[in-house]
Amino acid sequence: MGDRVSEGVARPYVLLVNGPNLNRLGVRDPQIYGTETLADVERRVRAVTAPRGVEVRSFQSNSEGALIDFLQQHGPGSLGIILNPGALAHYGLALRDCLEDIGRPVVEVHISNVHKREPFRHHLVLSAVVTGQIVGLGTAGYELAAEYLTRERDGQQR
Ligand code: DQA
Repeated sequence: MGDRVSEGVARPYVLLVNGPNLNRLGVRDPQIYGTETLADVERRVRAVTAPRGVEVRSFQSNSEGALIDFLQQHGPGSLGIILNPGALAHYGLALRDCLEDIGRPVVEVHISNVHKREPFRHHLVLSAVVTGQIVGLGTAGYELAAEYLTRERDGQQR
């Protein structure tokens, strides 16, 4: 019998999914969103998951349809989803239906504290279909979400 990798069994993975305008992280409104780029965030998330034997599949799009296509393809087989939906958090009902359909654990992350900002940011349409939300802790929120989704794999380096 070969090992799991040579037999082609996929390694466990989490999704790191970022919505509209998050490709601009590090440049856009740094006083609100900080100076780290999305590549920095990906590195930080991998630093949490790699020691637990978990890979990260990362995707960013400015289009709700492309996000849904990615989630439908990679979501069902994932351990869970770290999702910063950007402004889709406030009106993205197709994204909401997609997450409900997939039925995997989802941690919704917002870098800024949306509740302290403009009123239109206070309404979060994904709330009822996500596992939990991390709001206002900066880019550390992504790492905390990764910790949560891989917590039972602590010490399972392989
Ligand atoms: C955001 C908050 C949203 O209101 C905004 O549209 C974003 C970023 C955040 O991470 O704080 O694009 O999701």
